[in-house]
Amino acid sequence: MARIFSGVKPTGHLTLGNYLGAVRRWVEVDQHRAEALFSVVDLHALTVEHDPARVRRLSRQAATLLLAAGLDPERCTLFAQSHVDEHARLSYVLECTATDGELRRMIQYKEKGARARAAGESVRLSLLTYPVLMAADILAYRTDEVPVGEDQTQHVELARDLAVRFNQRYGQTFTVPRATRPAVAARVMDLQDPMSKMGKSHESGAGIVYLLDEADVVRRKVMRAVTDSGREVSYDREGSPGVANLLDILAACSGGNPEELAGVYESYGSLKRDAAEAVVELLRPVRERHAELAADPGYVDEVLREGAARARAVARPVVDQAYRAIGLLEAV
Ligand code: TYM
Repeated sequence: MARIFSGVKPTGHLTLGNYLGAVRRWVEVDQHRAEALFSVVDLHALTVEHDPARVRRLSRQAATLLLAAGLDPERCTLFAQSHVDEHARLSYVLECTATDGELRRMIQYKEKGARARAAGESVRLSLLTYPVLMAADILAYRTDEVPVGEDQTQHVELARDLAVRFNQRYGQTFTVPRATRPAVAARVMDLQDPMSKMGKSHESGAGIVYLLDEADVVRRKVMRAVTDSGREVSYDREGSPGVANLLDILAACSGGNPEELAGVYESYGSLKRDAAEAVVELLRPVRERHAELAADPGYVDEVLREGAARARAVARPVVDQAYRAIGLLEAV
């Protein structure tokens, strides 16, 4: 059976982008067809300025939301990255496999680093090594497939490169993973700024739909989405990115095709109304289930505890083998 690994970083509240780009497939497809592991990657949340209490709160909320969205602990393994030491252990060995040049070329490092410098903040070393830790997350489980949104493609490519390089130098150790992406909505854009990705921590929340937004808030955000000055509803990601984004969102929610949907609408207003209702209906059960689960933090703790034990059992022998292969003394 194929093995799947993916994760979500608790740097902000989960968004519609996270859901349509990744989480929904984990729930509807991946956990049913493969040995699937999903992680709240809390170590990754420490790579930028952070508030410890907030990261802890968001980590718990992310785990609760993943369960609310439908991850089933009987079918998959859900755990917190920091509960499984193997990620950090393997990350160091992969730092000895990667070069600083390839890490400096990573788009996310360049963008986030530039943003931090512009704000007068220092750039944490861990922001540079971020993709190495992510490669460790993936390779520690001999993962075949990594279901992610489009923005993670370059990082998964690095994980592939590191796996191949390590295997060639030190002997067959890792599976070479591949990224899988959803057919539509692999890159959900910000509703106010449709040239940028809908991200957890975009400055104002006005263009971001959060999974826990109330129905009326979702409606308001979608109805106020920036479109363009054209009249016709057409699917043109370059020329009309705001409208294309709404068509992608509607298609992803309703199971349709964005090009075909474009032909159905005569006005931006009716497209927005239908997109808003489709998102509200999609998120309603997630929000309701989240409220129930949030009332029982003991359950979430238990899921994470069992998940970490299962994850550790898979990763431990792989990382031990990597340690031996690269030349470290066996612990006796
Ligand atoms: P993160 O937390 O930013 O996002 C989690 C998942 O959601 C997808 N995603 C989107 N998809 C479509 N449109 C969007 N606007 C959008 N925003 C986010 C992301 O592609 C991702 O699949 N580095 C990762 C976390 C990570 C990871 C891993 C993922 C750490 N280790 C190992 C896979 C395997 C990240 O920051 O995701």
